[in-house]
Amino acid sequence: MSKRKNDSGDTNKKAMKKQELETTEISTNSSTTDNKANLNINDWIPKKETYSKRYYEILEKRKELPVWKQKEDFINMVKKNQVVVLVGETGSGKTTQIPQFVVDAGLISPGKMVGVTQPRRVAAISVAKRVSEEMDFELGQEVGYSIRFEELSSPKTFMKYLTDGMLLRESMGDPTLSRYDVIILDEAHERTLSTDILFGLIKDILKRRKDLKLIVMSATLEAGKFQKYFEGAPLIKVPGRLHPVEIFYTEKAERDYLEAAIRTVVEIHKHEDEGDILVFLTGEEEIEDTCAKIQREVREGRLAPLKCLPLYSTLPIYQQSKIFDSVKERKCIVSTNIAETSLTIDGIVYVVDPGFSKQKTYNPRSRVESLLVAPISKASANQRAGRAGRTRPGKCFRLYTEKAFQEDLIQQTYPEILRSNLASVVLQLLKLGVTDLVHFDFMDPPVPDTLIRALEVLHFLGALDDEGQLTKVGTIMAEFPLDPQLSKMLIESSERSCSNEILTISAMLSAPNVFMRPKDNRLEADASKKNFDHFDGDHLTLLNVYHAFKKNGEDPTWCYENFLNHRALKQADSVRSQLARILTRFKLQLVSGDVNSRQYYQNIKKCLVAGFFMQVAKLEKKNIYFTLGDEQQVIFHPSTGLTRKPEWVIYNEFVLTSENYIRTVTDIKFEWLSEVAPGYIKQKSFPKKTKEAIQRNLKYTK
Ligand code: CDP
Ligand code: MG
Repeated sequence: MSKRKNDSGDTNKKAMKKQELETTEISTNSSTTDNKANLNINDWIPKKETYSKRYYEILEKRKELPVWKQKEDFINMVKKNQVVVLVGETGSGKTTQIPQFVVDAGLISPGKMVGVTQPRRVAAISVAKRVSEEMDFELGQEVGYSIRFEELSSPKTFMKYLTDGMLLRESMGDPTLSRYDVIILDEAHERTLSTDILFGLIKDILKRRKDLKLIVMSATLEAGKFQKYFEGAPLIKVPGRLHPVEIFYTEKAERDYLEAAIRTVVEIHKHEDEGDILVFLTGEEEIEDTCAKIQREVREGRLAPLKCLPLYSTLPIYQQSKIFDSVKERKCIVSTNIAETSLTIDGIVYVVDPGFSKQKTYNPRSRVESLLVAPISKASANQRAGRAGRTRPGKCFRLYTEKAFQEDLIQQTYPEILRSNLASVVLQLLKLGVTDLVHFDFMDPPVPDTLIRALEVLHFLGALDDEGQLTKVGTIMAEFPLDPQLSKMLIESSERSCSNEILTISAMLSAPNVFMRPKDNRLEADASKKNFDHFDGDHLTLLNVYHAFKKNGEDPTWCYENFLNHRALKQADSVRSQLARILTRFKLQLVSGDVNSRQYYQNIKKCLVAGFFMQVAKLEKKNIYFTLGDEQQVIFHPSTGLTRKPEWVIYNEFVLTSENYIRTVTDIKFEWLSEVAPGYIKQKSFPKKTKEAIQRNLKYTK
């Protein structure tokens, strides 16, 4: 046995007596199981003389959660095994209770942590907040969280909720994850890209660090796969306490799922018994719109009050917590997929499921990754329905036909690793020294084509040399918590005397949308945006907005008057300083050119091209463009401020809604493409139209 374990063993013995007293005090009606399991509480973890009233209130509730019945079994199992797989229904208490059981089991030594990963930012914050309350601590002290660009923790932190992406980043600086005694990969069934990579990395670390423990937690029953991957790790099943859920289908396919969703909510509210409603939609704009429309219907129909609450990842934290508040009137929560398994909301009795979610797809041939609204899987549909039966028998209204459910929906969503552009992950793996990607222990190996494309992209970006070795630029790129395109653009900018400007643009692109378009004030908002519009395009408009924000002293009133989102701008500002620190760390200069020189905007735009040369579109006719490489016909998104139709543009996003749109668009010159990305445009594998356009322009350029 390692020394560290002996240490904690001794500590536990000392702690026993004290704990016995406390346990009887705290848990007035706890079973003997709880008492036994509680004997091991770590001595070094601060104990309070008195706990708040709320602590005891919550404790009573916690003890009713299904995982508490298995506390002792669980603790015994983790003590005996290095890897444990735990499955349980959503709401059984996995995310909030298991990390506390780990601490109670004495598995965390002083100065070390239990880290719990979450695929979603909102879940990481919200759960950390909840658990700090459960333990009667201040959030950010003993219990903290870490998501991209935002960390709330202290030297005292022994329990940290973090996005899987952040743990992956941490592993770059700390390859054995030495700050952790226990790692919990939560929501493993989601099979996000970062979780899948962590599986492989941690599996390897476990061989080298026998003192490290891993708990894999999941909501659905893919457990066998996890057990097999972790070579016979034992499984602990938490029996759910689901009530029956009655499922309704529509008789024929709905033409407009939003309209159908609103209608269904209103019908439930009118005719069904009390109980809250949960509606699954796909994104922020759609959700805000639908909330407003439901409220209007309720008002105009003079129905009983209904509290409509949006839930999506970029929602500010104080608004997110509102979904957990109990209110007198019926609640209707309109949420993205996040409420499917990541967040449990008590009191839901009715679920409205239109059957869609936003999903990443990647086409390795054209190298285009897009976020598309697509039908969900059967497994997802069943998870969604399950949300209705937590408190009492519930109802789920599927806004599609039973035939569609049976015949059209796939069994399970494909793991993200099979649907993603892997450039970012491959760069991180190379930085970690994993050079033999083909033999990396993936749970589901990506198609070789996707890996090759990722290497190719990194090569075009200058992150890899001809031998496939990481270049100096590549090493620095890996340090930025950004997509490789953005980090390339940043590195390039210090050589082109515009790093201050590119920092701003990158930060603005990484923060939530700063432009507000309130439903009742759209025209005014659009007119106000025009004041910031830059002649050459939207990237430069973002720069104008940020400058104006700083010039006006970051004043919230000024933001409000100009239809700008103050919170998003503050966030962009904070992201900007974090990125600036990384640049400085690598001795890359923070510089600006002369605003009055002709080169000023040209340099900025060349940097955009240096990063995003794979996102270029060429004018075809009138207002129609085609994207270089994959030849999609696209038009400018209505939000663009670029009123001209330049021959070549660079875009930040491909959006597919009712039309193929490109969003955040800026005018560029073809010559810059051949100047900053010669390897890319001289490829032989381009399709015909792209090849012709390039050939013609290359000749013309010469
Ligand atoms: O992870 P799992 O879905 O198994 O459950 P959990 O997230 O640990 O939630 C267990 C219970 O904690 C929920 O049913 C809620 O009653 C409560 N909870 C809460 O009140 N507020 C949160 N932010 C999270 C959980
Ligand atoms: Mg959970």
